[in-house]
Amino acid sequence: MIEITNLKYKYKNNEETIKNINLQIKDGEVVCIIGKNGSGKSTLARLIAGITMPTSGTVLVQGIDTKDKKKFKNLREKIGIVFQNPENQIIFNNVHDDMIFALDNLEIEDKENKIKNALIEVRHGRIYR
Ligand SMILES: Nc1ncnc2c1ncn2[C@@H]1O[C@H](COP(=O)(O)OP(=O)(O)OP(=O)(O)O)[C@@H](O)[C@H]1O
Ligand SMILES: [Mg+2]
Repeated sequence: MIEITNLKYKYKNNEETIKNINLQIKDGEVVCIIGKNGSGKSTLARLIAGITMPTSGTVLVQGIDTKDKKKFKNLREKIGIVFQNPENQIIFNNVHDDMIFALDNLEIEDKENKIKNALIEVRHGRIYR
């Protein structure tokens, strides 16, 4: 579950972007957040992923407060983000090497097998079912 409580975020030299959001997303729910350009969707996604820290309020991901630096690694295992601009995210020249990089960062073992199984899931379109 993702629990967002009284969340506010303000960039320096800008007016408040996230103005007191309260939201719960339950396990298995698929949620689409829509809004006009510059309304704060990407900012909210980065806040949920724990890449951006709230100005005030809290974001809990499976009970982990994104502000809790000691739990940063646990958080990274539970939530990921696909950035709006893939050039900010894709590092290597092929999918395999990029996946290995992610698992290396999390110190996960049995990488080749996990990647193979994940790619089979994607191929069969099972990811959201
Ligand atoms: N690094 C930054 N510094 C200052 N202001 C920023 C920064 N990044 C975004 N903003 C501002 O915060 C607001 C929200 O931006 P954000 O990128 O979250 O919107 P968005 O809903 O994802 O937009 P889009 O539909 O264009 O992707 C905008 O006014 C934007 O100009
Ligand atoms: Mg965006």
